[in-house]
Amino acid sequence: MHSHFLSTSPPPPPPPSPLSIFLSPHHFQINTLATFSSSPPPGITRVLFTPEDAKARAYIRGLMVEAGLQITEDGVGNMRGRWTGTDPLRGGVASGSHADAIPGSGRYDGTVGVLGAIAAIKALKAVGYQPVRTLEAVLFTSEEPTRFGLSCIGSRAMAGFLAADRLEALRDANGTTFLEAARAAGYGHGTGRGRNGGAAPPAHAVLRGCRIGLGVITHFLELHIEQGPALEAAGAPLGLVTAIAAPASLRVTFTGPGGHAGTVPMRERRDPGLAAAELALAVEAAVAVAGEGSPHAVATVGSVSLFPGATNAIPTAATLSVDLRDIDGPRRDGALRAVRKAARAIGRARRVGVAVETLTADPPMPTDVEVQAAAARAIAAVTPRATKGGGPGAVPRLVSGAYHDALAMARAFRSGMIFIRCRGGLSHVPGEYASPADMAAGVAALALALGDLGAGPPLVGRDAGRVARERGATHATCPVTGRVDDGGGGACPFRNKEGKERKADKAAA
Ligand code: GLV
Ligand code: MN
Ligand code: MN
Repeated sequence: MHSHFLSTSPPPPPPPSPLSIFLSPHHFQINTLATFSSSPPPGITRVLFTPEDAKARAYIRGLMVEAGLQITEDGVGNMRGRWTGTDPLRGGVASGSHADAIPGSGRYDGTVGVLGAIAAIKALKAVGYQPVRTLEAVLFTSEEPTRFGLSCIGSRAMAGFLAADRLEALRDANGTTFLEAARAAGYGHGTGRGRNGGAAPPAHAVLRGCRIGLGVITHFLELHIEQGPALEAAGAPLGLVTAIAAPASLRVTFTGPGGHAGTVPMRERRDPGLAAAELALAVEAAVAVAGEGSPHAVATVGSVSLFPGATNAIPTAATLSVDLRDIDGPRRDGALRAVRKAARAIGRARRVGVAVETLTADPPMPTDVEVQAAAARAIAAVTPRATKGGGPGAVPRLVSGAYHDALAMARAFRSGMIFIRCRGGLSHVPGEYASPADMAAGVAALALALGDLGAGPPLVGRDAGRVARERGATHATCPVTGRVDDGGGGACPFRNKEGKERKADKAAA
């Protein structure tokens, strides 16, 4: 008897805008993730492969399932949720970030980009968009160096820029290796030769399972809070990242004989603690000189530890971290050399042992022009007031002083970033804050840009491989089959193990 009403039901409502749909869920999800922390509020601490990290992973996995994404998790713990396009051979477009949080930090760093990628994909689904290229949301493992001293472990592995011996050697402060911790968390699996029967796969097999075929992902776009004050000063909710500064980090250890605090005369002391104090000041001086006054040249001594750490004992060892960054790679390297030189000189003058380890020294990375163009169009569309109707050309452009998974991804894939304004430019502190409205604008812009890239002009798979190799990708992957050709069984029919096209080889011979 209700059939009359059913047959004359009103037309379906117009699709809601991505901005209105995802304003509050994304915000609530950020706050839910913030409850998975090993330190009391307001600071957030979420260290790789701890119970809190596992809870965050389970939560994000649930959101990916709910968004209808096809999930895979690799051996270092990267989680990828895919929405397969109608022509996946044109390559995929990925977006994501990290969910680990340094001790006592805020709730937005990284998480905004992981949850944002899932929300953007959901928004595209909700408005009936169908991607041509596969779209994927990614949770990267350990962008922060907190536990193993190396940043961007997951994105380095995905982009093919993590060497097996480096992964093998990673240890935390308790001596647990990365691979042991990964296995305890349910990861550490590998693929291909080197599966190692029932035994734990070696690092090279784990990494082989993480590496993305160069034609499988072609583009990467990361959404992140700015972590600096520029957008707030410009009155703009969103900005476009043009380059990411080059980070380098050192671990310096001074050693001496120690002794009783009350009995060793000052003149006879060989105190590693004082050497560390002197080096910390020398780092500040080195970056001031080598950095030529540029605001992009920065240095931080963020961690100092004295052993044995007793008030009444002269230390026998002092270890300090040195973090140096600059948008100008050679200038950053000049500062690094100056710090190493200062460490040796201080060691000689104070008659203490010196060991300097380089943990990272990454090159700076410009972002990709194609991804920049898509992101600028999207930002201009979402924030017309901030850009005063000036279109993509009026979108604020910034250099990222912080590093990001996009820095590692940019070495192999066309990559870019969208920044969200944050209050006071604060980050890595509990007071970090981005407004729900700004985050929603970020998600909307990300959705538009992913939609744009996902339906983009055909990109011949071979081009994707060429771009990646031009950027120094070391592994040869067939852009057509996505298969890594290591010269072993199942060689790719299109490429030889140097990554050269088989036909081209013949023609050249
Ligand atoms: C990552 O958070 C960095 O240290 O830039
Ligand atoms: Mn961070
Ligand atoms: Mn981050």
